[in-house]
Amino acid sequence: MQRLKIDLGERSYDILLGPELLAKVGESLSQTLQPSRIVLITHPFLCQLYGDKLSSGFKDQGWATDVIEVPEGETSKTLKQAEKIYDRLLELKCDRKSVLVALGGGVIGDLVGFVAATYQRGIPFVQVPTTLLSQVDSSVGGKTAVNHPRGKNMIGAFYQPRLVIADLDTLQSLPKNEFRAGLAEVIKYGVIYDADLFDYLEKNVEKILKLDKECLAHIIKTSCAIKADVVEKDERESHYRMILNFGHTLGHAIEALTHYSQFIHGEAVAIGMVCAAKLSHQLGKCSEEVPIRIKELVKKCGLPADLPDLDSQSIIESLYHDKKTMNNKIKFILVKEIGKIEIVDDMPEADIFKLLQSEI
Ligand code: GLY
Repeated sequence: MQRLKIDLGERSYDILLGPELLAKVGESLSQTLQPSRIVLITHPFLCQLYGDKLSSGFKDQGWATDVIEVPEGETSKTLKQAEKIYDRLLELKCDRKSVLVALGGGVIGDLVGFVAATYQRGIPFVQVPTTLLSQVDSSVGGKTAVNHPRGKNMIGAFYQPRLVIADLDTLQSLPKNEFRAGLAEVIKYGVIYDADLFDYLEKNVEKILKLDKECLAHIIKTSCAIKADVVEKDERESHYRMILNFGHTLGHAIEALTHYSQFIHGEAVAIGMVCAAKLSHQLGKCSEEVPIRIKELVKKCGLPADLPDLDSQSIIESLYHDKKTMNNKIKFILVKEIGKIEIVDDMPEADIFKLLQSEI
């Protein structure tokens, strides 16, 4: 087992990474918290797969344990679903020493984090991410949210978990497309921060796609260490944390304009990263080799690299609705070389339009 620390003063916590960790969640948690009771919140199929393993670990610690099941899918990330959970927590008489355990991917992590941030003004929660995307990104860093009919993640809070436990074995049962989508975020860390990670991905992509355990441990640990460093420097995303948004500016627009049905998040991010690299080259920020390498790696990972047929003006309009857009200025993350990026606070519409009109 590997241990990484997120150093945020009194909000610091550890990320535990490795195989066979689910059975040890109770024991690991007991080293940080003394819960009055545990509420495990997860999807029905994950409860079936892993519920007993976790619950018996909690019972070994002498903690009363209840389970709340939430239907799968983004449609569960709503205030209505949060309210159902509040109702149940009240029925169970949960108090401020009750601990919520979020077992699942990004939907569960964001929803449970939001409930934990708001129930009785905040109770402790633990993230047990079961997808690659949530292990390398959403479970770490304290972004919690539910969706609003007008936009994703519009209602939320920065609220850090007390512990993150990523069991690499859970990836073995993850659908292939979900695994590849998680790889998009790993590629992102290479591009924005760590040229060695990018080289490693290029050299080991076949082994990674075969879920080689050593490779998985390496890329997940490296990704979490990068995320930890970024979050430590700018927990509430006043500026620097935006580097994590590389590829997401256009990625979010692609997701929205295809009604969240054509691409899953990481796939849209993959296309967004290729476009952002191409734009960086068009603006003279990087050599031509950069977008070529990113596109090649994206394709080798089995991810889409080409922009779907969408109206350029609609894409630009959609960029103005991004949460990161402030004072009507589009923020954009450009790449200077693999491992080095630049945050542009006011990207001219005309440059994006030119990119969208060119062959990408
Ligand atoms: N997923 C981007 C962030 O946590 O800031």
